[in-house]
Amino acid sequence: MVRGLFITLEGLDGSGKTTQIKRLAAWMQRRALPVTMTRQPGGTPLGDRIREILLDPVSTGVAPLTEMTLMFADRAQCIAQVIRPALETGQCVLCDRFTDSTEAYQGGGRELGSEVVLDLHRLVCGNLQPDLTLLLLPSLEVSLGRARSRNRRVAEKTGQDEGRFEQEQDAFYRRVWQKYREIAAREPERVVPIEGNLSVDEVHEQIVEAVAEKLLAMAGNQ
Ligand code: TMP
Repeated sequence: MVRGLFITLEGLDGSGKTTQIKRLAAWMQRRALPVTMTRQPGGTPLGDRIREILLDPVSTGVAPLTEMTLMFADRAQCIAQVIRPALETGQCVLCDRFTDSTEAYQGGGRELGSEVVLDLHRLVCGNLQPDLTLLLLPSLEVSLGRARSRNRRVAEKTGQDEGRFEQEQDAFYRRVWQKYREIAAREPERVVPIEGNLSVDEVHEQIVEAVAEKLLAMAGNQ
């Protein structure tokens, strides 16, 4: 059995990842490519409980190292329960956030640095790396504006507030943004940045172009 393609979507809160991952899954399914979608944190019953702890503004005073290791605890479960089994049965896995988020948010935003994140990645995730990472980079102002207003709407409607990160100051997000750019510059083979305030259709077009290219390259290598 040929291992499936592992694709991750990355970006700031409000960068449009969730909309784009759904459209990409539909595009792949129309081409009869088997797809498994997941997200981090979350994506497993245990991960959903970790997500609640991490995103609830009620969780105050969470130490950066606690935050980082909880993200990896969630990831370990998602890899064991969802990602590896799907890849091994030839499914393409579309994952909303992966270790780049930890490097950007905890390494950059919380200023833990990249090294500790990459070391933990090696320990916890072994050799598992995405084949392709689509990094959505609309401007900081657009991303944050969208994320904060979406969070207010959801909290009013459902009573569930996932806004612990959105409460952070702009300086935190500037560091996250900067770290994402650093990762893209370090790993240009894997990470495709999609920059600027583009329409949903324009972003989708760039995504399918990158995915089609990767699928062709994989087919060529088999
Ligand atoms: P999202 O699933 O709605 O994108 O939100 C998840 C939040 O968690 C988002 O603010 C980014 C943050 N996060 C981290 O700080 N580190 C991580 O490793 C991951 C996966 C997410």
